[in-house]
Amino acid sequence: MKTQVGIIGGGPSGLLLSQLLHRRGIDSVVLEKHTRAHVLARIRAGVLEQGFADLLRLAGCGDRMDREGEVHEGVNIAHGEDLHRVDLHGLTGGRTVMVYGQTELTRDLYEARDAMGGVVIHEAEDVQPHDLTSDAPYLTYRQGDELHRVECDFVVGADGFHGVSRKSIPADVLTEYEKVYPFGWLGVLSRTEPVAPELIYARHERGFALCSLRSRVLSRYYIQVPLTDRPGDWSDEAFWAELKRRLPSDVGRRLQTGPSIEKSIAPLRSFVAEPMRYGRLFLAGDAAHIVPPTGAKGLNSAGSDIQYLYHALLDHYERGDDSGLDSYSQKALARIWKAQRFSWWMTSMLHVFPDSPAYDRRLQETELDYLFSSEAGLRSLAENYVGLPY
Ligand code: FAD
Ligand code: PHB
Repeated sequence: MKTQVGIIGGGPSGLLLSQLLHRRGIDSVVLEKHTRAHVLARIRAGVLEQGFADLLRLAGCGDRMDREGEVHEGVNIAHGEDLHRVDLHGLTGGRTVMVYGQTELTRDLYEARDAMGGVVIHEAEDVQPHDLTSDAPYLTYRQGDELHRVECDFVVGADGFHGVSRKSIPADVLTEYEKVYPFGWLGVLSRTEPVAPELIYARHERGFALCSLRSRVLSRYYIQVPLTDRPGDWSDEAFWAELKRRLPSDVGRRLQTGPSIEKSIAPLRSFVAEPMRYGRLFLAGDAAHIVPPTGAKGLNSAGSDIQYLYHALLDHYERGDDSGLDSYSQKALARIWKAQRFSWWMTSMLHVFPDSPAYDRRLQETELDYLFSSEAGLRSLAENYVGLPY
């Protein structure tokens, strides 16, 4: 098989890029290791920056999001019994975020790919990129006993943190920066009315908690837990009781509880691989970087990579201009590091770090005190939360 852009990974990054390119007549093939049902069963991101939502619209995939997603003009931060609203809209000159689940937007992208006859190959095993530093790279993969080959001009590694793309860059070319946090998030999805119409990020001496949502009848909640905990250690009752304890009491009293539809634990990690280009391979999304979910920047960072890469590939194919491809890594990383900084800062401010000295805990409290007494501080939070410009 021959194509222009060979994309490894059928998550949001890979699907969005292939959809955007197809609409401009650029051909791609997406190789995905898992089944579509498996990809669509993952419950992940919920908050989209305005820039990401615009990119979905540009891809022709924004209709359902615009109908069913919720535009949020503010977000709340709780500290013990105090609850503060951050007026995102007012502090950023009218910018907002969109609450729309990653599962839903991935479904929309798959449907759009189907409607255009886009090629997405599922259950592609042992995907391997080859000859990345030549002018004629290619991918191989296996389906059952058959080995297949995809010849292409460029390879895009959009295969997530555990994918094969980043690993195909020689170790002496790649620098990896990593920070692992000493806790995880236990997440629960439940068919209950959300406790509040806007998100609440809560710092409590027992640990962090987050109240998020997918719709007026579907709630998504998280609590900080030790890395040694397993989802099975937490009954629904224990989860609800712990979440309630970590919220201001008048919020906790309003909490509607019910059976969990999904329960999982995600470890928290910050990670960046540099550079994001090796020969004709371009990394995008979680394949190149990971953030702890506290700032809602993971999927949104993938979105900024796709925006840069899409325009760089357009310039190459439509104008013979390779400057965007040549500056891709540098440009993408400049924005990525700012999302890393914000996610690290939110995580550091809102979580309980086991064994941290009393001094550090007082500093955390002071950080929140300062934030809520300073318009400049709040504006900085708001500017980052809605998303820095591309
Ligand atoms: P992925 O979604 O990981 O997709 C990669 C795809 O590649 C997968 O489908 C995988 O099966 C496939 N693949 C892997 N290896 C191979 C291979 N060898 N060959 C072929 N295919 C392969 N982000 C936000 O912006 N906002 C949020 O609110 C938010 N909340 C989150 C909450 C949780 C609990 C978690 C875990 C993450 C959250 N994120 C959030 C992060 C967000 O989900 C990711 O950043 C996003 O999924 C990245 O998309 P991606 O397409 O780059 O990678
Ligand atoms: C979510 O709804 O899953 C979500 C929202 C905000 C975050 C992280 C996750 O910061």
